[in-house]
Amino acid sequence: MAEALICVNRALRGDMPSCAGRGSKVIAQKLEQVLDERNVPLKVEMIQCFGFCSRGPNIRLVGGPFRHNVKLEEVEEIADWLIAQLEDQEKK
Ligand code: FES
Repeated sequence: MAEALICVNRALRGDMPSCAGRGSKVIAQKLEQVLDERNVPLKVEMIQCFGFCSRGPNIRLVGGPFRHNVKLEEVEEIADWLIAQLEDQEKK
């Protein structure tokens, strides 16, 4: 099954930026729920740091481009973005 990767890393120092510090775990859980409701064959994999900590939360489809600064209110649109990429990958 294809995977969407989302960083859920939390910086050890509270004054350092991190994806979890900006709500990425809740975003990941909501995204899982939305994809499940739509029966999309895409697994949400929570990972530890892409190295773009100051631009997080960060997400990408495996093999696809990154999307930075994602927000909870964008989850439906992010699901659409991921599904479009998945369909493009399947055509190749
Ligand atoms: S903390 Fe998410 S990319 Fe580093």
